Amino acid sequence: MKQPGLILVTGATGRVGGDVVRQLVPSGARVRAASRNPERCPAPAGVERTRLDLSRPETFGAALEGVESVFLYAVPDGADRFLDAARAAGVRHVVLLSSHTLYEVAEIPERAPIAEMHERVEEAVLASGLDWTFLRPANFASNILMWGWADSIRTEGVVRFPYPDSTSDAIHEADIAAAAVTVLTEPVHQGQGYFISGPEPISQRRQAETISAVIGRPVRIEELSPDQAREQLRRLLPEWVIEPTMAWWAATDGVDCVVTDVVEKLTGTPARSFSQWAVDHAADFR
Ligand SMILES: NC(=O)c1ccc[n+]([C@@H]2O[C@H](COP(=O)([O-])OP(=O)(O)OC[C@H]3O[C@@H](n4cnc5c(N)ncnc54)[C@H](OP(=O)(O)O)[C@@H]3O)[C@@H](O)[C@H]2O)c1
Repeated sequence: MKQPGLILVTGATGRVGGDVVRQLVPSGARVRAASRNPERCPAPAGVERTRLDLSRPETFGAALEGVESVFLYAVPDGADRFLDAARAAGVRHVVLLSSHTLYEVAEIPERAPIAEMHERVEEAVLASGLDWTFLRPANFASNILMWGWADSIRTEGVVRFPYPDSTSDAIHEADIAAAAVTVLTEPVHQGQGYFISGPEPISQRRQAETISAVIGRPVRIEELSPDQAREQLRRLLPEWVIEPTMAWWAATDGVDCVVTDVVEKLTGTPARSFSQWAVDHAADFR
């Protein structure tokens, strides 16, 4: 099989992008890790680091030189200019970290702001004329870190949450990265969009119970009213994602969300369970 050319990984300081860098290295691929602060990128032996701000065209030239494929974060501001520069620099293929919200929005219209942000970047990729693959992951298992679970579990043994029986198709960031490595290195996935998810719907309550079992300490759920949850979210997330998040929790309360076996189809290995995620992140909760 032809060795893939140089791969530029944007978001290399991010959870997914960092793992893409780490997992690409053993595949033998040549990797350039990009960030606005490249000194923070993982740098396994042989990986180059470069400064790239997707909204600042003056940073594009050096980052794109000699690149064949790009793993791209959906930063809408300037995406079209970045893609024009990528084509001009000889890039052939873009793998976009898009989102499952594109599928969700028909049933949960409040998810539109998140879906539209990703759709804008998908459209820019399609308009660029480059070969493309869209990875549309489900909810990241690591979202619970964004919602403040690590602090409250560590310090009080509590999760404060509004709909404890809402379910998630929680996907481990390592599986998103593994899927990305496959589609970056196997041309057969060009022109495809993939909804990738965790292996099973799991309620927030069961996620708390799983973390408790893994860290060997009780974790109590304190149920918040929707307004209390909004107030808590305001301290943690940008305003524009609060109603989309609340609506998703309400819509999946006691309702199993959809999961797929696409991670296994792409990588040859079943998607990691939430228990595995909790083991991998135990230090965050202890
Ligand atoms: N959370 C979910 O459930 C979910 C579901 C589906 C899809 N997604 C997608 O996944 C993304 C989050 O992935 P993650 O958890 O890996 O993110 P993360 O850990 O928060 O990292 C975000 C990355 O984006 C990079 N970035 C932000 N603005 C940039 C810019 N202007 N130029 C260059 N790089 C920029 C950051 O790089 P530097 O700061 O180092 O420059 C950082 O590496 C979301 O934004 C969304 O698009 C999320």
